[in-house]
Amino acid sequence: MVVKAELHCHIEGAASPELVLSQARKYGVDTSDFLRDGAYYWYDFTSFLLAYDAAASLFRTEDDYTLLAENYLTGLAREGALYSEIFISPDHAERAGLSRMAYTNALGEGIARAHSATGIEGRMIVTGIRHFGAAAVEDAARFAVAYEHPLVTGFGMAGEERFGNLRDYARAFDIAREAGLGITVHAGELAGWESVEAALNHIRPARIGHGVRAIENPDLIRRLAEEGVVLEVCPVSNVVLNVFPDFAGHPLQALLEAGCRVTLNADDPPHFHTSLAREYAVAKEHFGLDDTALRAITRTAIEAAFVDEATRSTLLRAVEHKIVAQ
Ligand code: ADE
Ligand code: ZN
Repeated sequence: MVVKAELHCHIEGAASPELVLSQARKYGVDTSDFLRDGAYYWYDFTSFLLAYDAAASLFRTEDDYTLLAENYLTGLAREGALYSEIFISPDHAERAGLSRMAYTNALGEGIARAHSATGIEGRMIVTGIRHFGAAAVEDAARFAVAYEHPLVTGFGMAGEERFGNLRDYARAFDIAREAGLGITVHAGELAGWESVEAALNHIRPARIGHGVRAIENPDLIRRLAEEGVVLEVCPVSNVVLNVFPDFAGHPLQALLEAGCRVTLNADDPPHFHTSLAREYAVAKEHFGLDDTALRAITRTAIEAAFVDEATRSTLLRAVEHKIVAQ
């Protein structure tokens, strides 16, 4: 099995339908609006975000979040991953009635437990939610910086990309960058290449969540390659959300050929009927990547990981030498 790493997974979006159903039973909540026949139910990006929010609202205590992170990372290790960065959303926790600090600690505890059980290394990226507005995103950045949790090493932004103007969010990212957090931002998923260009100009990220619609502009692809900005590509998510009609129309291969730095990620795995292992399998089956190319993708992820240099060196050595048991 090829060794893997993941940089782009929303922890609330990683909750399996079984776990969400058990949370719903615990809190006596009806899930029929967003869970049907044991699977998530939604039909476009807006209804996906609603299903995501509904599932997130069933995680309310520290134990709930610890279990969520522990479950996800333990499963990821079984898929052959040695490293995972999860997007965390203090805004979702507050809406569910838990303080941002308790939420972050609880997820950190889940990461620590998964690490003890499997050896997987995990970090957290605090994300602001774009459609909650620039003030809320700035607030999330201030929290990430002030709280100084040792496993919070990055800051990002998710949510409705078609909402607002990226320029208005620049301050939030400046606050995070000045404090030494790694920067990533969702762009070029639901909006076109202009959104990726705006991210480069106004946010100056080390990585871009998706970024795939940069393919609409060859000059921009050249710029991404030259600047070495790493793309967190999520092929199955893109096809399921209809960003591209099918794998044949997806630009993963073209981005690699243009010299862009690309990683593979599952985004919100059970919502899209995927997993990190499936993303690697899809890359092999539909984009012709062999095990050497897949290992190189894992290497890119570790090179771009928001970790200290000692951890990065250890992980890079593991990528070169590790044979992960089936
Ligand atoms: N939040 C969770 N998944 C997302 C995605 N694919 N795009 C933007 N925001 C998200
Ligand atoms: Zn995402």
